[in-house]
Amino acid sequence: MKKITIAIDGFSSTGKSTLAKHLANHFGYTYVDSGAMYRTVTLYAMQHGLIDENNFDKEKLISHLKNIEISFIFNKALGFAEVYLNGVNVENEIRSLEVSNHVSKVAAVSEVRSKLVEQQHKMGKNKGVVMDGRDIGTVVFPDAELKLFLTASAETRAKRRFNELKKRGDNVLFEDVLKNVEERDYIDSHRKDSPLVKADDAKEIDNSNMTKEDQFEIAKNLVDKILESQK
Ligand code: CDP
Repeated sequence: MKKITIAIDGFSSTGKSTLAKHLANHFGYTYVDSGAMYRTVTLYAMQHGLIDENNFDKEKLISHLKNIEISFIFNKALGFAEVYLNGVNVENEIRSLEVSNHVSKVAAVSEVRSKLVEQQHKMGKNKGVVMDGRDIGTVVFPDAELKLFLTASAETRAKRRFNELKKRGDNVLFEDVLKNVEERDYIDSHRKDSPLVKADDAKEIDNSNMTKEDQFEIAKNLVDKILESQK
């Protein structure tokens, strides 16, 4: 059967990765978490003292980009690919609130974007891929057969992220998580390069009052329809 490309975009903590992983497992596709790539570059910048609350040495980060190698290695037990920075597994570290607090500044740098988009193109060239992010349906794969745009209220999203961070054992305050969600929404939608916007041909799903299963059913049916029409 012919394989398609599925692009899932939306605001932070809208459940993109949950849906993307579920679809990838169901259809036997590869899941690519593009946000993990921006988070990994951010972690590198933090480790090298290039970014903190007050400063961001953008030029130095640009000059370091050639030293940053990001790879994904499938973890059978987890059922998805974990992200590696220069050969070191950073899957857990990149999910901290500290990385979240800096990532949107790093993701607004065009040189960072072009490096990562080039790698994303390579990962999706054979189709059979589900990629989630902010610009997948608009910039990375504008020809994707299915584009989904997920939304939910900021409160709902912050609650989801707060629970995730608590579950990991991170000591965070709900107000700080909500602030981060709102700040990232703003920066991601207002940056010059590849801002977060819904592609004209994307299907919008507001999942504020939906279960993960409801959302999966909607998306799965859309994929089935496309696959059926290609027969
Ligand atoms: O999981 P969450 O919704 O918190 O975000 P993510 O998908 O891990 O993405 C983290 C950040 O990376 C976003 O807030 C964006 O600033 C940036 N990003 C981007 O600019 N373009 C993408 N395709 C994916 C993520």
